[in-house]
Formats: sequence, C-alpha cells, structure tokens
Amino acid sequence: MQNRFGLFIHWGLYAIPAVHEQVLARGDWKHEDYEALMSSFDPVHYDPEAWVRLARDCGMSYICFTVKHHDGFCMWDTKQTDYNIMHTPYGRDVLGMLADACRKYDMKLSLYYSNPDWHHPNAYNALSTHQWKAKYPERSDMDAYISFIKAQVTELLSNYGEIYTFFWDIPPHIEDRSINELVRSLQPHILINNRGFDTGDFATPERTVPDGDRFPTMTEACQSVGEHSWGYRADEDYFSSRHLMESIDKLMAMGGSYLLNVGPTAEGEIPMQSENLLRRIGRWYRRAACALEDTSPAARTYSLSGGMPYIAVERGDMTYFHFWRGLNSSAVTFLDEDTPTPRRAVLLNSGAELPIRYDTLPSRVDGDAVARRRYHSIREIPVDDYPAEPLVLAVEWDA
Ligand code: GLC
Repeated sequence: MQNRFGLFIHWGLYAIPAVHEQVLARGDWKHEDYEALMSSFDPVHYDPEAWVRLARDCGMSYICFTVKHHDGFCMWDTKQTDYNIMHTPYGRDVLGMLADACRKYDMKLSLYYSNPDWHHPNAYNALSTHQWKAKYPERSDMDAYISFIKAQVTELLSNYGEIYTFFWDIPPHIEDRSINELVRSLQPHILINNRGFDTGDFATPERTVPDGDRFPTMTEACQSVGEHSWGYRADEDYFSSRHLMESIDKLMAMGGSYLLNVGPTAEGEIPMQSENLLRRIGRWYRRAACALEDTSPAARTYSLSGGMPYIAVERGDMTYFHFWRGLNSSAVTFLDEDTPTPRRAVLLNSGAELPIRYDTLPSRVDGDAVARRRYHSIREIPVDDYPAEPLVLAVEWDA
C-alpha cells in the first residue's frame, strides 16, 4: 500500500455510554435501551476538518471511518434502514461531512463496515463470531442480509467520492465473490481487506507486533491509542507513545501500513489525551516518514554491534536502519568486513550528520601474522536525547 500511516476512527452511538464500542453486548444492554441512545446523539462539537487537520499534522495520509459497527447503527444517510444518523437530534450526514473535509485537505478516506449487525432482523450468521447480540437469531436469512449489505455498499461507494480502502470487519466465513466484485465495480482503484466475503487484497494484524522483518503480503496493521476499547471510553488506559511508536516503526519497516485509532466523544471531539498522544507520535513520524514511505527491504543483510533489533530498508543509494527499540550505545559498528563504506550518516530523529570512524583492529593471530580488519562505525549518536523514540539512521554508501 502506498499510503502508510492512517487514522482509524471508531465513532457511533456507543460514544454516549463511553465504555466500549461493543457495550451493547459486553454490558448486556437491552436492545431497546441501546437503540434509545439514538434520540440523544447530538455531537454539536463535531468538526471533521479539525480531525482531518490533526491527521495531516501527524503525517497521516488517510482516515478510516466506522460507517457501521456491530451495533448496526449507520453513520450516513442510508435509505436501507432508519437506524441512522439522520434520525438523531443531530440529523446530518456525518460521513458526508467527513468526506468533504477529506477532499478539502487531500486526505484519503477509507470505510470500515461490520458484517455482524445487531440491529438488522436477518443478520444472524451462525458461521461467524460476534453474533452475541443479533436481534432475532431465529429470523436469520443471509440472502436477505447480503442484499441489504450490497444496497448499503452501493450507497457508500457511489455517494461519497473516491474511497481508498474498504475495511470489512469480522469474517462472515461465507464465500461470495460477488460482494467484492460489486465494490470494485463501483470503485475500480479500491483496496479491500481480508475480513470480508473473500480474501481481498490485504491482511489486517490487530493489536500485535508480529515477529520477522517483512510481511509476505500487503498488510495494514491496526492498533488503538487505548488498551481497552476502540470506541471512546471515559476511563481508558492509554498506551505510551513509546510503545506505539515502536510498533509503528517495526510494522512499517516490515512493509505494512498502520492505522492508529481514536474514539471521539459523543460531542464529536477527539479526547485531549488521544490528541496529545497522536501529536507526540506525529512529531516523530514526520521525521521518520522518509525512511518508511516508498522504501523497499534492504537487498543485503548487515551485522551490527550492540545486538539491538533493527530492520533495514532502502531507497536508491540510501539505507535506513530502524532501531525500533532504540540503541544501547552511541555508536553502531558494521561488523562484516564486506559491508560497503558508509559515506554519510544522518540520525533522522535530530537531522544531524554523524561522524564516521574507520578503524582497523587485529582480528586473528596466525603464527606471527596478525590480520587486520577494517571496521566502520557511526558515532556520537545522541541516544540519550531520544530515550522514548525509535531511532532511525540514514546511511549513504560510497559508490
Ligand atoms: C475487533 C473488534 C471491533 C473493532 C475491530 C477493529 O474486530 O471486534 O470492535 O472494531 O477489532 O479492527
């Protein structure tokens, strides 16, 4: 995927109880009580341009918005059900407003759509998970529900301009290629994730940092700023910016894209703690972005001193070393003798050029002969100035 860093937004009626996006099931609410939230949804502070500017300030290039979560409530002017934003006191198409804001700032827009639907009378799917609160399991009719999905997808992909990716949630375990075919017929350039009715285009590791140096297939990882919920939670426990930056750096260096999630409040505001976290991450990301976007895996391997984990990627004659867990020393030495000669090294965190030392050391005693090996070290890396950031070294080699 070309766009590497995106903002995930989980927003819906569940912002009102402020517990979890699945509070209807997790809190075992009665359907009537949950559905009644609709009569008080009035996000008077909703300012989609502010959300888009925040994403842009953080170096993000797309926003993925939950148009319908498991609760079945629709955040756009859908004609397929009255259970939607137009029938709240707010009464405005929040997706349309977000799409306009994205267009204005050249931000790409992606849509999240849940297959489980705890409101639609026919949506119960015995083959899938997350069916806990299906409203009428005894009225399950997947043909009818799939027709509803197709009608909604047609609205979503016809009325809101260009859509970048389509994020199905919770695999239905029903193979029906006609659904993604419809998606592609409406939006020929769209990328589709692997949680839908066929394998789609890209994988979606969630809340994990996988081992390895490279994803085998197109991948978009996702994670939320908080530990417990994707939707707004009043007493959320937030991850440290250091933890999030480490996973962003590692996952992106592995070639993945990364969706970082926030849950706006019922008033329509991104919580201050989330915004502060995003901005802190954004300040690092904007310095590291050139070492992540538009790069490919390093063609050769390197043996480096210090033993800290790293992933190397490259573009042209530059190699970028991502020390996603930082460094334990102010020097990095290339231990293989056949490593090319570094001509210039820059720590992207500071933008400062670093001195390179060429050294020879005795390495082997064979009778009286002492072989000398050449080592190149990048030195004076101000590791203690960036204790909470992944460190990224840009190295240019002698031709
Ligand atoms: C999980 C959760 C869902 C959340 C999603 C984000 O599938 O069930 O609530 O929206 O992750 O990827």
